[in-house]
Amino acid sequence: MRVVTGKSSVEVSAREFRARAAGYDALWLDIGTGDGALPYRLAGSFPDVLCAGLDPNVEGMAENAHRAGRKPARGGRANCVYVAASVEEPPGALAGAAQAITINFPWAALLAIVLGESDGGTLTGLGAFAAEDCVAQLLVNEVTDLPGVPSVAPEMLRERVGPNLAAAGFVIESCEWLEREAQVRSRWGGRLIRGSGRRVVRLRALRGTPPARALALVEAVSD
Ligand SMILES: C[S@@+](CC[C@H](N)C(=O)[O-])C[C@H]1O[C@@H](n2cnc3c(N)ncnc32)[C@H](O)[C@@H]1O
Repeated sequence: MRVVTGKSSVEVSAREFRARAAGYDALWLDIGTGDGALPYRLAGSFPDVLCAGLDPNVEGMAENAHRAGRKPARGGRANCVYVAASVEEPPGALAGAAQAITINFPWAALLAIVLGESDGGTLTGLGAFAAEDCVAQLLVNEVTDLPGVPSVAPEMLRERVGPNLAAAGFVIESCEWLEREAQVRSRWGGRLIRGSGRRVVRLRALRGTPPARALALVEAVSD
């Protein structure tokens, strides 16, 4: 598995990664993490959770990977890691590993995958990454002004994503508009919620009985 360390990346074996993850109470995977600001921030509040950002765009994660790799006194976060991969090709090291999975503001190819519109894009990756006891949360912003992009709303998301989540063993716990005053401290959270005032649908699904820390972390994504 390719782990981003800054401007470069290193190969980490499944055995090495699992040994590292075993030192934590839970593993959180933020799929399509973009610049990875959210895992970096929450890693500070959840030192007992291994916070992993995953994105095929290595360059986007470089700055936060570099920050996370510094000494703790200089802002380093030993519990924050960035993986170069796409959701369709889950690295073996992450198979069945995550107790919390988030996808925030998917767009273009990732949105098509979430909505089950593209080949192989039926969120199989999400099922592959999930531990037996896992909470998954999607934040999807409404789209009202782009031709060809489906209008996202709670019922629509529930209908489109529900069968794929069910196939992966998840049961939808809630699917509703996020409160207007909620903040998501990721780059796109800032742009879409604070910047443009777009509404956001939050869908939360459970498989088994996720650990309390995984539930707390997912709750902290929007505050
Ligand atoms: C609109 S950005 C959202 C970034 C971040 N979640 C945030 O809230 O700031 C969508 C991200 O999805 C990533 N992405 C696109 N296709 C993907 C795929 N197949 N698997 C995983 N991530 C993907 C993009 O590289 C991009 O960083």
